[in-house]
Amino acid sequence: MSGYLSPIDRAKFVAARRAVEFVQSGMRVGLGTGSTAAWMVRCLAERVREEGLRIIGVPTSARTAALAREVGVPVVSLDEAKWLDLTIDGCDEFDSDLALIKGGGGALLQEKIVATASDRMVVIADAAKEVACLGAFPLPVEVVPFGWQTTKALIEEALVGLDVMGRAATLRLNGDRPFVTDEGHHILDLQLHRIGNPRQLSLVLNQIPGVVENGLFIDICDIVVIGHADGHVEVRDINAGALTEERIDLVEGGNIFADLAD
Ligand code: A5P
Repeated sequence: MSGYLSPIDRAKFVAARRAVEFVQSGMRVGLGTGSTAAWMVRCLAERVREEGLRIIGVPTSARTAALAREVGVPVVSLDEAKWLDLTIDGCDEFDSDLALIKGGGGALLQEKIVATASDRMVVIADAAKEVACLGAFPLPVEVVPFGWQTTKALIEEALVGLDVMGRAATLRLNGDRPFVTDEGHHILDLQLHRIGNPRQLSLVLNQIPGVVENGLFIDICDIVVIGHADGHVEVRDINAGALTEERIDLVEGGNIFADLAD
């Protein structure tokens, strides 16, 4: 069945399958959001079914919660779990320091809270997401709906003095309506093209009234698992300074592909 997957989905699948090997029975695991994270949830469910893996998952969005319940991964809220052993999530871009841009799927706020409340964050990505410098992917910034146009103007003004190559902010839409996050906020996507100093940018953005959180994840990710369509994965551990290369079997025995609804 995996032979029917597109090259990009094969890359996401092998990254996810390798990443769930970090999960051990008894762990509390943050469950990321997005298409790569959805593979991870399915791979975890496979381990729950076939190995009797006992875990508690904390989803980072309503849609991940729905998928986890559907495929049989037990879920609780972060307040019930309190602290997590591990979070596994996707990203939109990562650099050599494992700084990330996240929020392409609009779930950056819960994702950042959950990842920060975890002993370790493992990011799963296809190779196209690696960049020398963050910023080609528009940076999502979650803002409260009240006065969002003023917040947008304040953001664009603040960007004037920063090391970025663009300043346009665009309100994310869902059809012809503003996109609404799980927390009832809106998203501004910043077309920055190049972010010279992600740490400074993150601090400046989060000081602007109306900004709830931004999609830069700095010093949060510990390990990135990079998947390739041919089945090989690279595992980079920023703390250990280690890089390993492995091959993941693309032919699976279970029914992991049976529930591909999204
Ligand atoms: C969700 O808000 C995002 O942070 C996702 O993790 C990110 O957009 C990656 O999504 P894909 O795995 O679908 O590319």
